[in-house]
Amino acid sequence: MTLTVAPNETVETNFRAMMRKFPATVTVVTGRNDGVDHGMTVTAVTSVSMDPPSLVVCLNNRTYLHEMLLEQPNFAVNVLTQKQRPLSDAFSGKVAPEDRFRPDEWERHSSGVVMLAGAHARVVCRRVAAVPYGTHTLFIGQVIDAFVDDVTRPLLYEDARYCVSQPAA
Ligand SMILES: Cc1cc2nc3c(=O)[nH]c(=O)nc-3n(C[C@H](O)[C@H](O)[C@H](O)COP(=O)(O)O)c2cc1C
Repeated sequence: MTLTVAPNETVETNFRAMMRKFPATVTVVTGRNDGVDHGMTVTAVTSVSMDPPSLVVCLNNRTYLHEMLLEQPNFAVNVLTQKQRPLSDAFSGKVAPEDRFRPDEWERHSSGVVMLAGAHARVVCRRVAAVPYGTHTLFIGQVIDAFVDDVTRPLLYEDARYCVSQPAA
């Protein structure tokens, strides 16, 4: 079979369309610098290795969290539950950064970063590498704490909509 290489614009359009249908888990990634907490909605999160336990978070270079994670190493990945859609909206721009954290919803980890008390899962990491690529930087974090709730269901994002997974038939 011969594969022809499509023009760049076609590849970009097709890749965008493919990623739109690529289900992803919705998280809020948090960091802290100079006494200020900040968080943003992120779906580009995946595990890297179990030895050492580590994950990667891909952040757009233009975001404030990107700047923060270059300056200080600790961050937390808070996986939202299906009931926490409003938090995803708030942390992706609908609410001003200084108004995103409701004190009753967040608790501070000993590393300094805040974690979402009612999250489906929480993973606290220390950045061990930051790899710039294109418009984004891959922040690799070594896991220093992890928690998952066995009862709640994670919030997913697919085709520009929030969803929840079902066991396959
Ligand atoms: C469902 C969803 C997933 C997102 N995933 C990412 C992501 O993986 N990486 C990223 O840099 N921005 C992602 N964003 C965009 C940021 O959340 C958004 O740009 C945010 O407003 C940037 O934060 P700031 O306003 O605090 O700078 C996502 C937004 C949504 C709604």
